Amino acid sequence: MIPKETINKIFEAARVEEVVGDFITLKKRGVNLLGLCPFHGEKTPSFTVSPVKGIYKCFGCGKAGNSVNFIMDHLQLTYPEALKWLAKKYSIEVVEKEITPEEKEKQTERDSMLIVMQYAQRYFSENMHTTDEGKSIGLGYFVERGLSNNIIEKFQLGYSSQERRAFTEAAVKAGYQPKYLASTGMSILSNNHVEGTEITVKDVFDRYAGRVMFPIQDDGGRVVAFGGRTLSSDKKVAKYINSPETDIYNKSKILYGLWLGKKSIQQTDLCYLVEGYMDVIAMHQAGIENVVASSGTSLTIEQIKSIHRFTKNIVVLYDGDEAGQKASNRAIPLLLEEGMNVKLLMFPDNDDPDSFSRKVTIEEFKNYLEKNVQDFLLFKAKKLNVETKNDPIKRAGVIKDIVESIALIPDNIIRSIYVKDCANVMEIEESILQMEVNKIRRKAGSKGNTGTSAQDQSQTFNENKNVFTEDLTQEKEEKEILKFDNEEKELLRIMITHGNVLINIDAEDSENEDHSLEIAVAEYILFELWRDEIVFENPIHQTVLDEYISELANQRLPDLQHFSNSQNPLISTFVINHIHSNHELSVRWKSFGVLVSTEVSNIKKGTQHLLFSLKEKKLNQYILEKQDLLKTSADEETQGILRDILHLTTLKSRVNKLLGRIVIK
Ligand code: CTP
Ligand code: MN
Repeated sequence: MIPKETINKIFEAARVEEVVGDFITLKKRGVNLLGLCPFHGEKTPSFTVSPVKGIYKCFGCGKAGNSVNFIMDHLQLTYPEALKWLAKKYSIEVVEKEITPEEKEKQTERDSMLIVMQYAQRYFSENMHTTDEGKSIGLGYFVERGLSNNIIEKFQLGYSSQERRAFTEAAVKAGYQPKYLASTGMSILSNNHVEGTEITVKDVFDRYAGRVMFPIQDDGGRVVAFGGRTLSSDKKVAKYINSPETDIYNKSKILYGLWLGKKSIQQTDLCYLVEGYMDVIAMHQAGIENVVASSGTSLTIEQIKSIHRFTKNIVVLYDGDEAGQKASNRAIPLLLEEGMNVKLLMFPDNDDPDSFSRKVTIEEFKNYLEKNVQDFLLFKAKKLNVETKNDPIKRAGVIKDIVESIALIPDNIIRSIYVKDCANVMEIEESILQMEVNKIRRKAGSKGNTGTSAQDQSQTFNENKNVFTEDLTQEKEEKEILKFDNEEKELLRIMITHGNVLINIDAEDSENEDHSLEIAVAEYILFELWRDEIVFENPIHQTVLDEYISELANQRLPDLQHFSNSQNPLISTFVINHIHSNHELSVRWKSFGVLVSTEVSNIKKGTQHLLFSLKEKKLNQYILEKQDLLKTSADEETQGILRDILHLTTLKSRVNKLLGRIVIK
């Protein structure tokens, strides 16, 4: 664990405008700075940085946080990783303490693995540029394939020589431990090694001998894996060998090209999805950087989500060959389900982006990309329509196919636009198509977890069951939560910003004698919530409340900074969004008839107003629940339920009266 003092030091040093400014261009706008949001594609800036408050907030997508949150989000790092990243930037020494020996071992192990990968990348590049074998075979290969020196450098390409222990021995000689060569997968552990004994240099040999090397980087630009391509045309030799899944390489998360391309993906609000390493590289050489490849695995939901952070618009550029078609058939339903806007682009004559780009000029290539994208669903509808024009049975199958794809789209409006357009293209009644789509969505909804499908074609779809009912229940639950949102938020705000203000309340002692008691506002709120067993409906609010209580239990009164520096991004984002922002605050207070300048003097009334209004809403909810129960209950239970309702109603009118008595000036 990083000690608290070090964390404070990092927070002090890491000025939000500097940290954010490293990644996006900020312009001064009054006391704040303004730029293009890196988290969603936008053309007019709505990303605001407040140096005074030490926070950022995007008014377009709602992302907000402090400098540590920014690094976590932007570089996809964990909290401790982000802290260390910043510590390094500001030359703050991090001496960790109190972590368990196992954690420490894991941590050093990951660090050691990353260092090995960094070494390997440099070794292979240097090998390619300086040795005779490297130059003639490795570099020769890339040059032959038309790559420029700049591009070879940009992608840190390299070559692993044919001698099958060359890399392993060089690495050990340079001080890297054989066990990390094995755990990163850079070297293969020989069968002769006896499990449990120490791994020595004799036990390991190169995995990639004689291959050209493509380093694979994570979102923070660190090399975590390699793809190695054979130069042999022997069909029995695997064309590519990739790093195995390791502690630093999670195949289903990493996308080849994302680190180099994410800026461009954001700026153009578009991402090209290609199949191979060479396709990504060739596109960069043609000046197109918003491109990624899922390389070596079929596209996963996690990979799609990491594209979605930057854009909704994706153009799939898979090969026209059978494998490419299959891959795109697998990828497209996932993309539709994630709500991506999916377009398709095909190259003539089974070309892939790489081979096509070498046949035409850069201008022609760019033109081709622009002119030939087609909407995936409409393309499919057109193609199928033509193919099945005179075959009614096939045609029915095709319509079913299209309907299944449309049904995957989560957004109601977009879905209905597709219904209309596809109906048009396929020359069928819109209402019929709509009905079919609804049928599928309903069926998927009612199927539940165990439902297995007779139509196994729609397997991915069934995996994502409940699309329909989830919509509804989620909506309902969200409404329930929202009912209490204002009060919950405001109570938290008062506790966090004015929790220590003392107020006088009327209390009864054990002899039923009234007298006045002076307590802190926070204590008063907590007592009232506890007395009526009120739990906040919004789980984020409850998390913040729990944190408050646990700090109090440790004899600390948590302040605003405590929450905005919280390592739980749920907490810090909430606090920054709802509590830091003076503007929102004054607006909301006005709705309660309170002016901010008089907030402290009115704090008791304001608090009571919130508490009573929360209680009134709760009572309302309980009464409604009981009334619902009444409809389905057995006769013998009716009496009891009616009594409960009566009791709750009495309580409600009491709370109502109290509420009416509070006059806020
Ligand atoms: N791939 C792989 N293992 C293989 C074959 C392919 O991991 N045995 C992955 C690689 O990421 C490769 C991608 O699938 O880049 C696409 O494969 P393919 O189209 O066969 O290769 P290209 O990228 O076109 O490579 P090249 O142009 O060098 O032939
Ligand atoms: Mn190719």
